[in-house]
Amino acid sequence: MQAIIRIKRFNPEADRRPYWAEYEVPVDPFDRVLDALHYIKANLDGSLALRRSCAHGICGSDAMVINGRNRLACKVLIKDLGPRITVEPLRGLPVIKDLVVDMEPFFQKYRQVMPWLVPDDPPPPQERRQTPEERARYEDTTKCILCAVCTTACPIFWGTGEFLGPAALVAAHRFIFDSRDRAAQQRLQILADRSGVFRCRTVFNCTEACPQGIEITKAIQELKQAIILSRT
Ligand code: SF4
Ligand code: FES
Repeated sequence: MQAIIRIKRFNPEADRRPYWAEYEVPVDPFDRVLDALHYIKANLDGSLALRRSCAHGICGSDAMVINGRNRLACKVLIKDLGPRITVEPLRGLPVIKDLVVDMEPFFQKYRQVMPWLVPDDPPPPQERRQTPEERARYEDTTKCILCAVCTTACPIFWGTGEFLGPAALVAAHRFIFDSRDRAAQQRLQILADRSGVFRCRTVFNCTEACPQGIEITKAIQELKQAIILSRT
């Protein structure tokens, strides 16, 4: 079958504004959108810029807006979209070129929540142990692949550059509820700031969009609760 792929293109060094380019691509219904983009780049227009690495839903680098929804291009089949497909760069981050956005503002917010383990004792000879129950407490938020799909689907993030955004909150959750970590209070203080969790209006866009199926809104609610409990 033939698919029409419309791509929002923009080269800030050459174009005054973004424009739509349309490509007719021979596809199999079980091809992924990433396959169609590869075809375009290899056969129709080598100047198309896109980012991808694993092509298997693991690295999180090919997040983009496909038919109006944030998705990973390697996880969406053509048959589930039909023969007319639109592809745009993620919203809320500066476009470097075409489908490639600047992820630095995203990672800068990620780093703000201290996404690393902070123990208060010297390393043990073997490992820091925890029970299966303690591990299960933060299992869901360990699944994050830092694709930015959630943060760039969030209207609060679009509206203010200050909000940490769902992905940073997911990272904070992963460490705050880890029994081996000792910096929970420090992180909760960061999250209680006006750029933190209380900016969330429980729109659920993040949870609906997350390719890892993480219950992001639930995690954010748990963080809000933890802040309130830490003050009582
Ligand atoms: S929480 Fe989900 S959508 Fe957000 S960055 Fe992690 S994997 Fe991507
Ligand atoms: S290319 Fe790695 S997640 Fe899609």
